[in-house]
Amino acid sequence: MQTFNTRQDWGWVSILLHWVMAILLIGLYFVGDYMVGLSYYDRLYHTLPALHKAIGVLTGFLLLFRLLWLLVQPQPGQPPGGTPLLNRLATLGHVALYALMFIMIISGYLISTAKGKGIDIFGLFELPALLASDAGRGELAGKIHAWAGTAFILLVGLHALAALAHHFFWKDNTLTRMLGIKTIKE
Ligand code: HEM
Repeated sequence: MQTFNTRQDWGWVSILLHWVMAILLIGLYFVGDYMVGLSYYDRLYHTLPALHKAIGVLTGFLLLFRLLWLLVQPQPGQPPGGTPLLNRLATLGHVALYALMFIMIISGYLISTAKGKGIDIFGLFELPALLASDAGRGELAGKIHAWAGTAFILLVGLHALAALAHHFFWKDNTLTRMLGIKTIKE
């Protein structure tokens, strides 16, 4: 499989980034949703938020790399047969997914650093708090984080349904090429 994208196919770097980040982001959503319901006496009360933050920061770095990679690469064209409206909606959906990923990572950073403390990444390094402590800003970021998380998971569901519709209904190669599978029918 080729490393770089072409006008027909995704390269393995884009494919790996897509699926690794999909697993991380869907995992982060469900861990985040679960951990806010934990009581202080639960043994996961401290460990899950630390894990959520550290993986969130690493996902943020992957997101920056993915965006740079996308900007310097060609992108496979949309499959023939889609109407201009459907094609535009697909592009809009991808842009919205990127926007929500950024909103979640930035708001997560702002919640975690609202008390002026950095974020520990598995004891390897600390992402410093760049702004002075501000409880109000942390609270607002928390609301945005929760709202964006819900919008994100709904959009991911729609995105996955669209991918399945491409495969089973329109029977084109949109899903197979994101899985790195070459189909004879192009
Ligand atoms: C957190 C979960 C997910 C996110 C954030 C996400 C995001 C994206 C984005 C931004 C693109 C545009 C290409 C790119 O920039 O990499 C894309 C493409 C694609 N995604 Fe996802 N995705 C997720 C999960 C899924 C799932 C679960 C499926 C399938 C069941 C899927 C199927 C596809 C396919 C087939 C494409 C290629 C579209 C094309 O070639 O035009 N994605 N995804």
